[in-house]
Amino acid sequence: MDPDIRSAIDFYERHPISCEIILAKLKASRGHLDGLKPEELFPHDQDHYGGLAANDALAERARIGKGTRVADFCAGLGGPARYLAHRYGADVTGVELTPARVKGAEELTRLVGLQDRVRVIEGDVMQVPLPDASIDVVVSQEALLHVPDKSRALSEAFRILKPGGRIAFTDWVAHRPLPEADRRLMWQGMAVTGLYDLPAYAELVGGAGFTVTSVDDLTRDWGAILTQRLAMYRKLREETLAAGTPAGHDAFYESYVRFVDLVNAAQLGGGRFAGEKPG
Ligand SMILES: C[S@@+](CC[C@H](N)C(=O)[O-])C[C@H]1O[C@@H](n2cnc3c(N)ncnc32)[C@H](O)[C@@H]1O
Repeated sequence: MDPDIRSAIDFYERHPISCEIILAKLKASRGHLDGLKPEELFPHDQDHYGGLAANDALAERARIGKGTRVADFCAGLGGPARYLAHRYGADVTGVELTPARVKGAEELTRLVGLQDRVRVIEGDVMQVPLPDASIDVVVSQEALLHVPDKSRALSEAFRILKPGGRIAFTDWVAHRPLPEADRRLMWQGMAVTGLYDLPAYAELVGGAGFTVTSVDDLTRDWGAILTQRLAMYRKLREETLAAGTPAGHDAFYESYVRFVDLVNAAQLGGGRFAGEKPG
C-alpha cells in the first residue's frame, strides 16, 4: 500500500472523533440509544470546520435538493452524508478509506434510521468504486489534504458525475510554501500531503475538466473556528485519559497547535471550490 494512504488510515484509526466516543457520550447524556434522531448526532459527527453551516454552503453551491444523488469523497463517519439526506432529501453515497470509520458510519446511520438514503462504502477517492456518469453532485470537506494525487481524485469526481453535474468541496491550502520543519510536522502529526495555493488549486479543478464556478478563501473564518476546535480536542484528550483509554498520539496535538497558528498567520488556510461538468 502507498505509504501516504497507510499514514492516513493510521491517523484516522486513532483520531479523537470516533463512533465509540460519540455513542458513549450520547449514552451518558440520554441513558440509552433507542429512538436516536439524526439531529442528535450532528453536534458530534461533523469532522470538518464550520459544522452544519459548512454543509449548507456546499449544498447551495452544488444545488443539492430532494433526490439529488450525491457522492461524499472521504465521508468520515458519515456526518455530512446524513445531514444532506436528512435536511435536503438527498441520496448520499460516501467513499471512505479507513475501515473503522466505514463501520462506524454504518452503525450511526442505522441507529438514526437513514440507511435507505445513506451508505458509506470503503474505497480510495483516487480509484472510486462507482460507475461512470452515475452521480449528480460530488462534495468533500477537509480531506483531500490527505490524498497524494489530488488531480486523480478530481478526475474520478469528473468521471462519476453526469454531464451537468456539480462538484463543491473545501480543503486546506498553503498561501505560502511551508518551511520543511512545518511540512514534516504536518505530515507526521496529521498525514498531510502536498498542498496548493488557491489559484493553483483552482487550476487543478479546471484541469480535471470542470468549469470552475466559484473559489472562496475561508482562511479568516477558519482561524476562529480552529481555535475553538483545538479547545475541543484538548477536552476530548483529557476525557479519554480520565477514562483510562489511550489518548490520541502526541504528534497530532503538537501539529494541530502549530496548524492553528499557521492559519491565524494566513500561511495555511482554507478554500471552498465549486465547479460544473460541462453538459
Ligand atoms: C477530516 S476527515 C473528514 C470527514 C468528513 N468529510 C466530515 O466532514 O465529517 C477526513 C477523512 O478522509 C478520509 N480519507 C483520507 N484519505 C482518503 C482517500 N484516499 N480516500 C477516501 N477517504 C480518505 C479519512 O479516513 C477521514 O475519514
